[in-house]
Amino acid sequence: MVADTQPYAATSAKATGEVVLRTRDLVKRYGTRPAVNGLNLAVQRGEIFGFLGPNGAGKTTTIRMALGLITPTAGSVEILGQDVVTHRAQVLPRVGALIEQPALHLYLSGRDNLRAVGAILGGVSEARLDAVLSQVGLKGRDHDRVRTYSLGMKQRLGVGVALLNDPDVLILDEPANGLDPAGIVEMRDLLRQLAAQGKTIFISSHVLGEVQQICTRVAIINLGRLVTESTVAGLTRGHGEFVVRVENPAAALTAIQHQPWGASARLEADGTLHTTAPQSQGRYIAHALAEAGLYPDQLNYQEESLEEVFLRLTSNGTGEVR
Ligand SMILES: Nc1ncnc2c1ncn2[C@@H]1O[C@H](COP(=O)(O)OP(=O)(O)O)[C@@H](O)[C@H]1O
Ligand SMILES: [Mg+2]
Repeated sequence: MVADTQPYAATSAKATGEVVLRTRDLVKRYGTRPAVNGLNLAVQRGEIFGFLGPNGAGKTTTIRMALGLITPTAGSVEILGQDVVTHRAQVLPRVGALIEQPALHLYLSGRDNLRAVGAILGGVSEARLDAVLSQVGLKGRDHDRVRTYSLGMKQRLGVGVALLNDPDVLILDEPANGLDPAGIVEMRDLLRQLAAQGKTIFISSHVLGEVQQICTRVAIINLGRLVTESTVAGLTRGHGEFVVRVENPAAALTAIQHQPWGASARLEADGTLHTTAPQSQGRYIAHALAEAGLYPDQLNYQEESLEEVFLRLTSNGTGEVR
């Protein structure tokens, strides 16, 4: 409704500025303990938005509120501009969701599982079932019972369930949870394809390496609060370090440690020298080494991984981060 009248929305897989999912000062309290505590998020059309946080951070609670499954204690969630509590009937048909484990019938085939959900939605055509099954890469296995599926296949069937009504927005709660590396790669490819088809994807995770590769933007929450909202590049920028290969690493270490910015330099077991530099500029290192008569063979900048960013931003002394 909202998007189809806008010329840029139909084909672009990139964010367009239209906010598709928004939380406003969202709060959910259980007893006196806030599970979600004043959360403001804005997800734009066409994004793959990563919703990150350690276990217990409030991700599932937020998603349950976004789907109208539980009511906020305060604040609100809007999807496609409509409040999910007051406009539930209009909003929900535009949204597809997978919360943690998909509720599948293990003794039915993949196709029959989709058909059963379709029946609840008012019936779906065989052509639609075919389309969804090939979208999630289950064509060929669709007549087999789900209990013979790998976990990755079950998760993809769960995404298939979410896709049945051809939603604008996909909300996926830890879809990579428990998957082996091959399953994670398949899930990642699937989400990329869906984004390329113009879906907006909101994906929660504590599997950070995963999200780093596919998300256009991420929000990190901890203890129910937003820690940061940024592009992945923006999160890691300026927090990397240089890895230096040089003939005499011990002498190089001394030379760098004598710089006003070099106190944290160190040698690693592989003989490389690790150091930060002012404004992340390698020339400071090259200059300091040259002054000491040392010339680097390699000077490489290494971005901080999202895992490291996440620990830096959310460490709260509880050891909860996994
Ligand atoms: N129904 C509930 N009753 C009481 N506490 C809850 C309930 N659901 C979640 N919580 C608490 O809220 C916090 C956030 O949980 P959750 O949203 O499941 O986190 P996440 O999905 O990020 O792991 C946790 O401390 C959890 O124990
Ligand atoms: Mg959860």
